[in-house]
Amino acid sequence: MLRTHTCGELRLEHQAQVVTLCGWVNSARDHGGLVFIDVRDRYGLTQVVFDPDNGAEMLTVARSLRNEDVIQITGKIVPRGEKLVNPKLLTGQIELVVAELTILNKSKTPPFLPGSTEIANEEFRLKHRFLDLRRPQLQEAIIFRHKLSKAVRDYFDQKGFLDIETPMLGRSTPEGARDYLVPSRVHEGCFYALPQSPQIYKQMLMVAGFDRYMQIARCFRDEDLRADRQPEFTQIDVEMAFVTMEDILTMIDGLVAYVMKEVRGVDHPIPLPRMSYREAAEKYGSDKPDLRFGVELHCLGTIATRCGFSVFQNTMQSGGRVRGICVPGGAAKYSRKLIDELTEFVKTYGAQGLAFFRVTETGLDSPIAKFFVAEDQQAIIAEFGAKAGDIIFCVADKYKVTSAALAALRNRIGKEMQLYDPRTMHFSWLLDFPLFNWNEEDKRWDAEHHPFCDPVPEDVPFFDTDPGQIRAQSYDMVINGYEAASGSVRIHDSVVQQKVFDLLGIKAEEAEERFGFLLDALRYGAPPHAGVALGLDRWVMLLLGNDNIRDVIAFPKTQKAADMLTGAPSTVDDRQLRDLHLKINAPKP
Ligand code: AMO
Ligand code: AMP
Repeated sequence: MLRTHTCGELRLEHQAQVVTLCGWVNSARDHGGLVFIDVRDRYGLTQVVFDPDNGAEMLTVARSLRNEDVIQITGKIVPRGEKLVNPKLLTGQIELVVAELTILNKSKTPPFLPGSTEIANEEFRLKHRFLDLRRPQLQEAIIFRHKLSKAVRDYFDQKGFLDIETPMLGRSTPEGARDYLVPSRVHEGCFYALPQSPQIYKQMLMVAGFDRYMQIARCFRDEDLRADRQPEFTQIDVEMAFVTMEDILTMIDGLVAYVMKEVRGVDHPIPLPRMSYREAAEKYGSDKPDLRFGVELHCLGTIATRCGFSVFQNTMQSGGRVRGICVPGGAAKYSRKLIDELTEFVKTYGAQGLAFFRVTETGLDSPIAKFFVAEDQQAIIAEFGAKAGDIIFCVADKYKVTSAALAALRNRIGKEMQLYDPRTMHFSWLLDFPLFNWNEEDKRWDAEHHPFCDPVPEDVPFFDTDPGQIRAQSYDMVINGYEAASGSVRIHDSVVQQKVFDLLGIKAEEAEERFGFLLDALRYGAPPHAGVALGLDRWVMLLLGNDNIRDVIAFPKTQKAADMLTGAPSTVDDRQLRDLHLKINAPKP
């Protein structure tokens, strides 16, 4: 080893010991003859001192050191003078007086300094990710991620789960996103698909008798990226045989408690709260409500029908709804100018406008208050449980639009009004999702989750009458307004599976062609089984109080799915294309 200790390790108890450290020059200061250098590694920072008494030559070399040079120093640990103690550093009580200095590697002037508090633009940092990853925040995130993964593996190992790898080169899985395809050299014109998830393979493992499976699995989806989405991400993938939905929820509740204890040292209460999809839609307009704060959606109902405001009346007449939220203490905060901003904001979610009412001691104050008689103003106040000083925002539109607009508004206001402590973590389960969704554009039914979810048995008769009524035995875990996990009881009967395919418009031959192996497996003694997948990246991101998934992935892709560091994706040479029987039509970038 080139060192005896790390840069985060030395304390007062090490005084008088001679030690050797290695690390990067984080900063250098020249103080009237003495040169001070903070040396950094992933464990911390240690201050080292070059004293002219230990040799003028070494001092000259020390003065030539620049940020990010890699050095090795040997010397004695001495306590810092009382006034020089740095309580912010774990090693702040000591310093190392250098007797020997070796420059292990000089660094070119770095394009940005990992030790600086100023953060360079993200694309630029991603291009130099090896430097960016030296930043303490990123080091902390990567180390935390390791701890979380380890806790997850330990938990499942203790519960008797087997970690089984599934292929990367496989067949397209129906998770609903676009596939990343890999051309086959051997099979001309044929492609593998990178897995959107190990869904089908884990079901095969259940049929094969491995009744407790887990894998920390990489998944690939070519979809529009957002702050919480990467084209390549990681799932904690789980499947169990001979279980009910209740067993999966209990198992994952246990995982949450175990992980929270291991990585945060807290006793997180379980079982996690549960809410039905319908209730969440009514109360929060969302299937992933942020439950760190209240502010529920309310409906104006008959008041909207009988008021004199034509927008509300017309909406009610055409089958829409007038819904709103009450912001406690928001009347003073939301000026006309801010309300105009909120109006533009809800319009991006399809709303036509945003009505508002300031709540006063006597009633409602609003440009449209005149359309509501005094009793109706009081009825609105009562419906929202409002008090003087609050502000009520309403959207009149189709149910779906009011949901989307108000859910987004609610999230924005919760943050702006600081209605919760950003360090809290709120986990919950959402249950009773519909099995199918009507796709208005293409006039057909889509699977809400994926086509292998088992319907709630008592809803099966609706297959022939009202498919929208069928509930799936599926569940999502929501953390702080993010979908953190998703799963379901699977269909283990090929007849039910065929019924689902039929409704989705997947013809028998097509089903045989795409999922023949699955249908076949279900015909050879498939046990009842169920499972779930948790988004590992999202979980890490939320636990670190971050809102950018790229900050918890060592080598993430940009919004445009590019790897700035290596320049992927890139063109390939003609010979590679020829081997793969491919011809490029697009102009060269
Ligand atoms: P689903 O598609 O809901 O379910 O994915 C499970 C969880 O993975 C996370 N996730 C993502 N994280 C980052 N970037 C993405 N692009 C991304 N897409 C999904 C989310 C999500 O809840 N096979 C099923 C699971 C099952 O039924 O067992 C599946 O993949 O946190
Ligand atoms: P207008 O009658 O267009 O001047 O609108 C009066 C108020 O009603 C404004 O504050 C609008 O933002 C609001 N408004 C208009 N359309 C809607 C709607 N569909 N839902 C809620 N408020 C609306």
